[in-house]
Amino acid sequence: MNLCVVAMPGSEHCGEQIAEHLGVARCRLESRRFPDREIYLRMLDEVQGQHVAVVAQLRDPDPQLPGLLFLADALRELGASSVGLVAPYLPYMRQDIRFHAGEAITSRSFARLVSNAFAWLVTMDPHLHRVASLDAIYDLRAVAVPSAASIAAWVRTEVMNPHIVGPDEESEQWVRDVAARADCCYSVLRKHRSGDRSVELTLPDLDPLRGRTPVLVDDIISSGQTMATTVRELVAMGLAAPICIGVHPVFAGDALTVLEAAGASRIVSCHTLQHPTNAIDVTIPLAEAVRAVATDRERNP
Ligand code: R5P
Repeated sequence: MNLCVVAMPGSEHCGEQIAEHLGVARCRLESRRFPDREIYLRMLDEVQGQHVAVVAQLRDPDPQLPGLLFLADALRELGASSVGLVAPYLPYMRQDIRFHAGEAITSRSFARLVSNAFAWLVTMDPHLHRVASLDAIYDLRAVAVPSAASIAAWVRTEVMNPHIVGPDEESEQWVRDVAARADCCYSVLRKHRSGDRSVELTLPDLDPLRGRTPVLVDDIISSGQTMATTVRELVAMGLAAPICIGVHPVFAGDALTVLEAAGASRIVSCHTLQHPTNAIDVTIPLAEAVRAVATDRERNP
């Protein structure tokens, strides 16, 4: 396959894993900051005529964004056949409407920037809530790879008598799929968020959880408040200490400490962002999606 992988600074391990699974080359990128912090980029390997997958783990995306856009531009100028973005975690998906007058709808603005720079995008479980699909805001070939099979495989191996719990209504899309694949039941709570770090929950009938291990599944763990509040509520109801699974371990600031202190028995995550909680490897489904898109580009340039 006429495909190579370029990893953004900090995403080398993820890039290596994907390139290794696909059996394709990793093209080397030199990157540093000038004294004034502007970014310097230089491709050290030939990309002419190749489909290039730029791998970027976008926790704290703002400092990375200019470099990402400049790299896409450079790769095109250097003759790449197509330049795609592999962002296992797609940031800026949650500000998807104007909650208050005058706010920037950053999910759309970010989508426009990425769509102008890249020909295709592979990501995992983007936070689709009020926006139904990536195609509604992204103007490129976008593939959303589900994590449910990988999470369910982990649950089947690691958890006795699981009962999957989603902390809010939008989590139902992931929770339902994971529960079906892990062959167990699920419950979904209702969440009211009154601030970045302030969350209240309404609980459904929790009797089906008695005697089972609650396994909380959410797409993003950011401040950790959604998970921590859920853990505290379930423990207060006399249920077993929950296991927490996040697809995207953003873990801003002291989020991990907050969640540990709430009483979670285990905290694990997928490898979409590097984090000490990483336990669920999603390299294969991501890499296979990249293979499918690149093959399609080769057949239909
Ligand atoms: C939003 O509804 C997402 O699905 C997560 O529940 C949310 O982003 C988690 O954020 P935090 O960890 O800050 O509560």
